[in-house]
Amino acid sequence: MESIEIDLGERSYPIAIGSGILSDAAIYQGLPAAAQAVIVSNGTVAPLFEARLRAVLQPRYKNIQTVVLPDGEEHKNWQTLNLIFDALLTHGCDRKTLMFALGGGVIGDMTGFAAACYMRGVPFVQVPTTLLAQVDSSVGGKTAINHPLGKNMIGAFYQPQLVVCDLETLVSLPQRELSAGLAEVIKYGPIADMGFMAWLEANMPALLARDAIALSQAVKRSVEIKAEVVGQDEKEAGLRAILNFGHTFGHAMEAGMGYGKWLHGEGVGAGMVMAAELSQRLNLVDQDFVQRLRRLIECAGLPAKGAVIDEKDNAGRYLELMRVDKKSQAGEIRFVLIDGPGKAVVQSAPDDLVREVIDACCI
Ligand code: NAD
Ligand code: GLY
Repeated sequence: MESIEIDLGERSYPIAIGSGILSDAAIYQGLPAAAQAVIVSNGTVAPLFEARLRAVLQPRYKNIQTVVLPDGEEHKNWQTLNLIFDALLTHGCDRKTLMFALGGGVIGDMTGFAAACYMRGVPFVQVPTTLLAQVDSSVGGKTAINHPLGKNMIGAFYQPQLVVCDLETLVSLPQRELSAGLAEVIKYGPIADMGFMAWLEANMPALLARDAIALSQAVKRSVEIKAEVVGQDEKEAGLRAILNFGHTFGHAMEAGMGYGKWLHGEGVGAGMVMAAELSQRLNLVDQDFVQRLRRLIECAGLPAKGAVIDEKDNAGRYLELMRVDKKSQAGEIRFVLIDGPGKAVVQSAPDDLVREVIDACCI
């Protein structure tokens, strides 16, 4: 087992990575004592792993409740969040109650937000079961729900006590979800580590075949980079925004098509190509780099072309949605661009140029 510490002073915590560790009682030893624990999961993940998690927690917590939410990005909203509060109140959960997010990024983001709000904050643990959640969403304390007008618009920064990345859980993941997770893995190359990008190019077939060693290396390096960035800028005053490479375009696709049509990672995949293309048109990288990134995204089984979200004025609709992005300032969209391979920069771009990129990159 590997353990990576995220250094956030009194909010520091370990990210444990290994095979079968979900059932290892030693992992949970350092957690705060409590009478109650609540596992939040969904109808797909709970039948796979809830019994194992419950069994390992049983000796530590007298009373364990499980809340099973509907599965899907389209349920990442107030109505579903309220189901968690309903359960916490119905079961008389106190402010020491420990919550466990068992699932992908949707469950992790919603459980974390519920933990941040319930009685003004109860401790929680991330047990991510998708590749995307293991390499990104479970680490760093961003929690949120969606709003029809914008993705992840209602939320809080709220750190977990522990992250448990059990690589064995990835065995049952549908192939499309594995590819979606690879989008968030790929992003770490262009923004921070071109050696990692070269490693991904060489190891993509092994990753797609779920080779255990390759997956463990990909998760470990991704978490290391994320922990390093978040350790320097927990609340995204500046640097942390680079982790949103591809997300400005990607979020517009998700919201524009309706949440759940394209997976988050698919939007990020095509969005990274668009952001790289914009970087090239601003003379920050050359066309060879854009081609190289496009190839890697295609090899991962991801869309490299953006989606058309409006038949009449596609670029106009993208611009409208991207203005709502959290990085926007005074109505000006700010993009994560590649400023030479391995380095990211956050800056605005002329609308005309952004329109050109959208027209060139969408199917
Ligand atoms: P998801 O949570 O919807 O999970 C994908 C699908 O896989 C779901 O149907 C889920 O039930 C199923 N699943 C989960 N684990 C499984 C397993 N082991 N075996 C079989 N099926 C399994 O999607 P996701 O890609 O994990 O996460 C996407 C979400 O994460 C988005 O809402 C995105 O906004 C959010 N996100 C948040 C952050 C952050 O920093 N908080 C970062 C990136 C993404
Ligand atoms: N997924 C982007 C971030 O955590 O900042």
